[in-house]
Amino acid sequence: MMKNDRILIIGAGGQIGAVLTEALREVYGPDHVIATDLRALEGQNGPTEIVNALDAPALEEVVKKWGISQIYHLAAILSATGEKDPMRAWDINMRSLFNVLEISRQHNLSKVYFPSSIAVFGREAAHRNTPQYEVLIPETVYGISKVAGENWANYYFRRYGLDVRSMRYPGIIGYQSMPGGGTTDYAVDIYHYAVQQKPYACFLSQDTSLPMLYMPDAIRGTLELM
Ligand SMILES: NC(=O)c1ccc[n+]([C@@H]2O[C@H](COP(=O)([O-])OP(=O)(O)OC[C@H]3O[C@@H](n4cnc5c(N)ncnc54)[C@H](O)[C@@H]3O)[C@@H](O)[C@H]2O)c1
Repeated sequence: MMKNDRILIIGAGGQIGAVLTEALREVYGPDHVIATDLRALEGQNGPTEIVNALDAPALEEVVKKWGISQIYHLAAILSATGEKDPMRAWDINMRSLFNVLEISRQHNLSKVYFPSSIAVFGREAAHRNTPQYEVLIPETVYGISKVAGENWANYYFRRYGLDVRSMRYPGIIGYQSMPGGGTTDYAVDIYHYAVQQKPYACFLSQDTSLPMLYMPDAIRGTLELM
């Protein structure tokens, strides 16, 4: 880690982005972490920008303006939302990643972070102690975009030497921010409904369980990986 690194977070207003931004600002200093999203971000103690990751020239402008050395690309259409309009989810998830990879390569960025997901696994994968090199036949367009994204990240590393790092998160559980359309979001939503004394119908059958990770552990793991 270099103290003069300048970090761009894309999707900083999301469930993970909001918490990761604060954690990165503690490590690098608030002014070294540029938080960006589609909409204006509130309650920030460091620089922010409104950027659409699909707008390559705008993204490049921000990278140049702030002298960015690392990008955390968190923006994505998540699994449940993606199934409502698969083509849109594919387009947003892939095009935003291509923009990030190309700009990072062209501007010689030192590192890129692109989170993947357990959505890369389908019904064929081992359900317990799932190995790293498992057969990947995803069930959702979101999962397909993450498998493709992992492969593109690997391609940019092997072909261009771009240091792209990734981790397959399970469902992330945290109290600091609201989830944004993932399959495992029920685990957080259910508490918010309970607090509001509203009934909650979960789409899982009683004996089904999905893997989860507590937000602080996800953030710690991400910082350690990077
Ligand atoms: N939360 C989880 O449980 C989980 C699990 C596995 C992987 N992930 C991955 O982690 C990353 C962050 O997830 P999250 O839960 O914080 O998602 P989220 O939906 O809460 O946040 C995503 C953010 O990206 C922004 N965004 C969307 N399209 C954009 C665009 N075109 N340009 C700029 N910003 C855009 C949204 O406004 C939002 O603030 C995603 O890549 C997701 O696939 C999350």
